[in-house]
Amino acid sequence: MATKIHKILVTGGLGYIGSHVVVELQNKGFGVVIIDDLSNSSLSVLDRIVGITGIKPVFEKIDLKEKKSVTDFFIRHEDIDGVIHFAASKAVGESVNNPLKYYENNIHSLVYLLQEINKLASQKLIFSSSCTVYGQADELPISEEAQIKEPESPYGNTKKVGEQIIKDTCSANTLLNTIALRYFNPIGAHESATIGELPIGTPQNLVPFVTQTGIGLREKLSIFGNDYPTPDGTCIRDYIHVVDLAKAHTIAMERLIEEKNTENYEVYNIGTGKGSSVLEVVNAFKKVTGVRLNYSFAERRAGDIISAYADTKKANRILGWKSELTLKDALLSAWKWEKKIRS
Ligand code: WQD
Repeated sequence: MATKIHKILVTGGLGYIGSHVVVELQNKGFGVVIIDDLSNSSLSVLDRIVGITGIKPVFEKIDLKEKKSVTDFFIRHEDIDGVIHFAASKAVGESVNNPLKYYENNIHSLVYLLQEINKLASQKLIFSSSCTVYGQADELPISEEAQIKEPESPYGNTKKVGEQIIKDTCSANTLLNTIALRYFNPIGAHESATIGELPIGTPQNLVPFVTQTGIGLREKLSIFGNDYPTPDGTCIRDYIHVVDLAKAHTIAMERLIEEKNTENYEVYNIGTGKGSSVLEVVNAFKKVTGVRLNYSFAERRAGDIISAYADTKKANRILGWKSELTLKDALLSAWKWEKKIRS
């Protein structure tokens, strides 16, 4: 008997992480429907996904802040087996200057989405959360049991509040099964160098700034602070290859589809379990690309925490997922992508 093709809705599926997850879902035989409002992505990503997998996902341009559009979408697609929710604003700095944009977009969208998922026959949700919810953890590596701290930004707060909204909804509606994935620092690009991170304007995150400096788009990299209490004085993060992160989503969705989850709300840290300092990233980039980076030390950046890297035992043991690609693999893929989009 032919196996059923499960239909997965990916909101924000044309974005950086979303597009990589769509590719991995298709690789695993899932049917994919993408909703994206194209506010931070481009329709060309749809063709690039087809270029990689040969399969065209269904796409609908919808703004999840428009409740009626969301309701109408689910009337047309009541056979959805699962939802992976990425669609959100995610620039930490912007969220400090424009908090209401973040609360309206990230919270309203989530509530309208949940109100529709609650009507589906199959209520399975993967939520894109972030290690930002931990703030500066008291203990390293950071486990899922670590205290959820006051977030450093409105963006981080929308992830913390988002998790709480979903948790409360799962308590009230035991038919809703959710896995929240708390990402550490996603970097890199698909090996085809046809999808990757496309920051609009000046990159906020380290690795796109490094690759843009390497290719000559930026005069130099400013390293925000080298007087932190770390071995080389620069901040430490857990940089995870976006393809490893994407695979964690397909594994989590399979866990829900096969009803292997033991709670109807589960949380997993998704990182490599290894911390790398900013200087270590810069040196690894030079090593794998041969490109000398022009950089100087600058003032600390407000809101930065000193060090964060994941305790990945829970995801390894229960989810059956672990990262396989290295920091160097990720930096090389980011560099290939940067060269491709500038060629
Ligand atoms: C990493 C380190 C900077 C740029 C953010 C979000 C988090 C998640 C991942 C979405 C820090 C330093 C950076 C530069 C630098 N996003 N840096 N010069 O802040 O750890 O996490 O992205 O979920 O929610 O907060 O990542 O890449 O911005 O910074 O020295 O030009 O690189 O100070 O120490 P961050 P980042």
